[in-house]
Amino acid sequence: MDTPEFRRPRPDEIVEFLAVSVRSYGSDDSPDHLAWEALSNEPERSIGVVDGSRWVAGAGAFSLEVTMPGGAILPAAGVTMIGLEPTYRRRGILTGMLTRLHEDARDRGEPIALLTASETSIYRRFGYGVSADVARLAIAADAVRFDPPPADPGTFTMLDLAAPGSVDTIATIHDRVRRTRPGWLSVTPGMWAQITADPTWERGARSPLRGVVHNDRDGQPDGYALWRVEQRSEPDRLAGNTLHLEHLTGASSEVDTALWAFVASVDLVTTVVWDVGPCDPDIRWRLVEPRQLRIGPVVDMVWARLLDVPAVLSARTYGCAGTLAIDVADRFHPDSGGRFVVESDGRGVMGRCHRPGADVDDDLPVVTLDTADLASIAMGAVTPTVLAATGRLSGDRGAVGQADALFTVPRRPWWPIEF
Ligand SMILES: CC(C)(COP(=O)(O)OP(=O)(O)OC[C@H]1O[C@@H](n2cnc3c(N)ncnc32)[C@H](O)[C@@H]1OP(=O)(O)O)[C@@H](O)C(=O)NCCC(=O)NCCS
Repeated sequence: MDTPEFRRPRPDEIVEFLAVSVRSYGSDDSPDHLAWEALSNEPERSIGVVDGSRWVAGAGAFSLEVTMPGGAILPAAGVTMIGLEPTYRRRGILTGMLTRLHEDARDRGEPIALLTASETSIYRRFGYGVSADVARLAIAADAVRFDPPPADPGTFTMLDLAAPGSVDTIATIHDRVRRTRPGWLSVTPGMWAQITADPTWERGARSPLRGVVHNDRDGQPDGYALWRVEQRSEPDRLAGNTLHLEHLTGASSEVDTALWAFVASVDLVTTVVWDVGPCDPDIRWRLVEPRQLRIGPVVDMVWARLLDVPAVLSARTYGCAGTLAIDVADRFHPDSGGRFVVESDGRGVMGRCHRPGADVDDDLPVVTLDTADLASIAMGAVTPTVLAATGRLSGDRGAVGQADALFTVPRRPWWPIEF
């Protein structure tokens, strides 16, 4: 291939286009699987490479929203389905596709791009930094006992995903909750269609998806959980099923707790495991025996790339009043780097960020870092002090302390759905 032809797939080409990425992940490329992948595809945001008449690379983006620290909502490009045929690697095709996806996101007014990475070695060079982690949570079902015992006024309704309206019910709960949780994302109707289709290749040796909705004292749905059960098949015939949570989303910490209590009480279940839970789960601080909750490994889930630094940093709150200059190195989009100034009037107030003009104040504290690390700090995934210790951020001691105080967040960002 001399000159790669980057272009969008036509509607009649979507399946062949998606097949390249699906194969690159080592997944099953049966017609059923490709049709399932197509459920969430946004063709007008897809970009790939054709060699002759054959697709050899593909990538796409979801039109998402992300909740910032402080609750502002930003439009975001959810970069997805990146994959190449093995013989086309290391010729700059990923670089070309990301260049186009970022350009497209900027044209759409999306100041931030997000992705979940197959390998953590790939995306830093393109300006992506870890912005949300997940932790594996595991606990014996009979250790799910709380002090004080929760007084839940709510009720539970089993969820039949095939029943009309059930997907809308959980999508509505999710949409309410994600607006209150920094780092959380919207889920498109196509993504919900994929999740709730519950295809066999998503199950492994586990059951189909089961679910429950929690209703408040007025009967209004305010939380839900989805899980699969792994049956124990030991000769001793003692009950020993593991319930693998996939989603547990409540409108409050109390609703989350009620959902934990519910899933731990499912008959024959002796262990509850959640591979994509929060790193600092509230229930640890409610358990009679907190050590019974095993937390880890902790793994990166979302990577963020700032496409418009002032737009992102002006859309969050800061921990104190103050002003900080930030010098940003951006190898992939040099025009997006340079000096920025962040100003905050105090805790809980939306900040402001701009490129300084000629009247720059030389007395401002300054930190210097890569745009990937700024993305991590902006979303609250790491503190400036930790990055300073690793050599990825520099500044005088006053500047690093000022950055810590400004960028502090009450909770570690977390997001449970791979895309
Ligand atoms: C990962 C993948 C998309 C890379 O595509 P590619 O077209 O080979 O990437 P490029 O040629 O644009 O590489 C750009 C740079 O990234 C580096 N790079 C690419 N893939 C890398 C990886 N997996 N690990 C480390 N570095 C990587 C290249 O070495 C190159 O560095 P250089 O500029 O210093 O030479 C491709 O190998 C692939 O399809 N892998 C399997 C599917 C997959 O993991 N997709 C990602 C889903 S999130």
